[in-house]
Amino acid sequence: MLDHEQVVIRTGRRSRLPVIVAVHSTVLGPAAGGLRLWHYPDWRDGLDDALRLSAAMTSKFAVAGLPSGGGKAVVALPEGMVLDADRRREVLHDVADVIVALGGTYATGPDVGTGPDDMASIGDITPHVFCRPAHLGGSGDSSPHTAQGTLAALRAVSRRLYGTSSLAGRTLSVVGLGRVGAALARLLAAEGAALTVTDVDPGKRKVCDEVGAVWLSPDKILAAEVDIVVPAALGSVLDEPTVRGLRCRAVAGPANNQLATPDVADLLHQRGVIWVPDYVASAGGVIHAISAELHRLPAAEARARVDAIEDTVTDLLRTAESRGQTPAQAADELARRRLRAAPGPTGP
Ligand code: PHE
Repeated sequence: MLDHEQVVIRTGRRSRLPVIVAVHSTVLGPAAGGLRLWHYPDWRDGLDDALRLSAAMTSKFAVAGLPSGGGKAVVALPEGMVLDADRRREVLHDVADVIVALGGTYATGPDVGTGPDDMASIGDITPHVFCRPAHLGGSGDSSPHTAQGTLAALRAVSRRLYGTSSLAGRTLSVVGLGRVGAALARLLAAEGAALTVTDVDPGKRKVCDEVGAVWLSPDKILAAEVDIVVPAALGSVLDEPTVRGLRCRAVAGPANNQLATPDVADLLHQRGVIWVPDYVASAGGVIHAISAELHRLPAAEARARVDAIEDTVTDLLRTAESRGQTPAQAADELARRRLRAAPGPTGP
């Protein structure tokens, strides 16, 4: 059964590339979610990604307590395709056409492979776009806020494990040093945490040196003996073999779709590893963008909403423990309850 309200798949008029927009739910409000501009072996893999990521956005907003629905856009680039500036603008304008056709049901934002300048290009055609650069009236890059929100989630984990929200002296592995991972590594280093890091791009060793971290290869880092593993790259890193190899006490990070399959959450629980659902730990970016741009909150308040992820995670871990559930079950239940309490889909 299709779980989504609407999925648009269109060959871009200008780029001839497959543009996919999945609107999972507008029950809580108009849908929002980033645009992923990424390489896939087949465009259908991009469709799978859009379906899963948009559903996660619905849960992300529900647990964050925001009146928005879940959506996601994917442009599936063939492997090896490099876009020059003109071609890139064409792709972004093709995405914008689909957003226009959705009539306000979906607004986009940055995600893997896109940033504020791309949002500016989309803004040439439609106002339904978050995170344009500040000089164009947007709230700018969301990644520092996603990193800040993940830090808040990590504080809650630390409080649960060690009775203090301070991360000073804790050991953490940051898996992926993209815009969010690098920002988070810097925040953690500033807190006095001892870091192990990796990235598929060896060029990221610069960030490693800058934060005084130890570099481990991507295939070794999940099994490193640390307090907390922080997935900060592409999804599906947690599957049966990697979870069996974990030597940490918790996993919490900003990557979307960390579990290869939902039952991996149970395996983590059985192994005594606390897993904070990705859609809870990664919500800082959207919380900030939507608070600032849609709800027009002053900067300090938007920031406080991001920091409130600490309380959300603290409550979730407490609820899960008292009910004998996994944090994933507790978060899913909370999301479902909030969706059930809402009146119904938002019209265009
Ligand atoms: N990439 C963000 C996420 O997955 C999406 C986003 C950020 C959407 C900011 C809107 C504004 O949560």
